Amino acid sequence: MSLLRSVAIGDLLVKNNVWLAPLAGVGDRSFRIMQKRFGAGMTFTEMTSAHGLVHNSKKTFELATLTKRERPAGIQVFGSNPEIMAEAVSLLGEYPADIIDINCGCSVPKVLKTGAGAGLLADPGRLYLVVKACVTSSIRPVSVKLRLGLTEDGINVVENALASQEAGASLVTLHPRTASAGYTQDARWEYIRLVKERLSIPVCGNGDIRSPGDAVRMAEETGCDAVMIGRAAIGNPWLIRDTVAAFEAYPETVLYTIPTAEQRVDCALEHLDLIVSFKGEKRGVREIKRHLFRYLKGIPNATHVRKSIFLVESKLQAQQRIRSLLASQG
Ligand SMILES: Cc1cc2nc3c(=O)[nH]c(=O)nc-3n(C[C@H](O)[C@H](O)[C@H](O)COP(=O)(O)O)c2cc1C
Repeated sequence: MSLLRSVAIGDLLVKNNVWLAPLAGVGDRSFRIMQKRFGAGMTFTEMTSAHGLVHNSKKTFELATLTKRERPAGIQVFGSNPEIMAEAVSLLGEYPADIIDINCGCSVPKVLKTGAGAGLLADPGRLYLVVKACVTSSIRPVSVKLRLGLTEDGINVVENALASQEAGASLVTLHPRTASAGYTQDARWEYIRLVKERLSIPVCGNGDIRSPGDAVRMAEETGCDAVMIGRAAIGNPWLIRDTVAAFEAYPETVLYTIPTAEQRVDCALEHLDLIVSFKGEKRGVREIKRHLFRYLKGIPNATHVRKSIFLVESKLQAQQRIRSLLASQG
C-alpha cells in the first residue's frame, strides 16, 4: 500500500508524486537538475512574467527554458490579463515543457499591484477567465498554484479551485496560507483535504514539509495526489530522496542515512559545476552562496570555513574552500 504513485495531469503521466516547488531566485536549472537526480518526480521553473514573454524579454525566456534533465517539468507563468496570458502560453508552445503552471500565490507588492500572482485570488470569475484563456491556447495541460485567499477574511480557496477545474485546469496545487499571512503561520493542511474532497482533478499539497515524515503525514491527512517541497529542499536534495523512499515503503517506516560530510561537499561541488556551466563563473559563484550554507550545515566544526566561503569570487576559490571542510574534519 505504497504512497508512491504516478499522477495523471491531463494526458501527461508523471511517474512519482514527490515534486519540487517553484522557487524564484533559487530554483534555477542547476537546482532542478540536482533535485531531479535525487528523485523529484516533477520540477517547476521560477515564476516567469507573461508580459516579459509577450515582449520577447531574453531574461524571461531564459527563465522559461527547460532541458531534458529537469523534466518532466512545468513552466510557471504569472500575469493577470487573460489575453496576455494566452499569448504568453501560446509562445511557450515552441519551448520544451510538460505542463504550464499559473502562479496565483506570489504576494510581492509589485506583482500583487498588477492583479497577478495572489491578486488572481480576489475574484474566482476572473481567475476562471485567465485559466480558460491559458487552457485554450496551451498545447499542454495547465495547472494552477493557489493560496487560501488574499486575506483571512477573504479565504475563497474552494471557489478558486472549482473555477480552475471548470476552466479546464488538469491539476491544482495548494499552498494553504493566505497571501497576507506570508509565512507567519503554519500551513493549514486541512484545506488541502477540503479541496481534494471537492475536486475531481488531482490535487498537490504544499507547505511546511521539512522531513519525509511530514510528507507522509500530509499524504495521510489530506489524501492529496502529490506533495510539493520548497524551502526545505534547498541544499538538501536528500529530503526528496528520503521522501520517495518513505512513500515507497509506506506503511513501513524507513531508517534514513544522514548524509556524510563528504556527500555534502560532493553535492555542493556538483551544484557549483552546474550553476557555473549555465550562468558563467561570476554569476554562478555569487548565486551558489544561496545554497551553500544549507549544503554544508551538517558538517561539524565548520562555522569558520562556512563563513569564509561567502567571500570567494572565483570557482576555484569556492572549490578550495568547500573541499577544505573535509580537511578540517581531520
Ligand atoms: C525563495 C522563494 C521563492 C519562491 N518562488 C515561488 C515562485 O516563483 N512561484 C511560486 O508559485 N511559489 C514560489 N514560492 C513559494 C513556494 O513554491 C512554496 O509554495 C512555499 O515556499 C511553501 O512551501 P514550503 O513550505 O515547502 O517552502 C517561493 C518561496 C520561496 C521561499
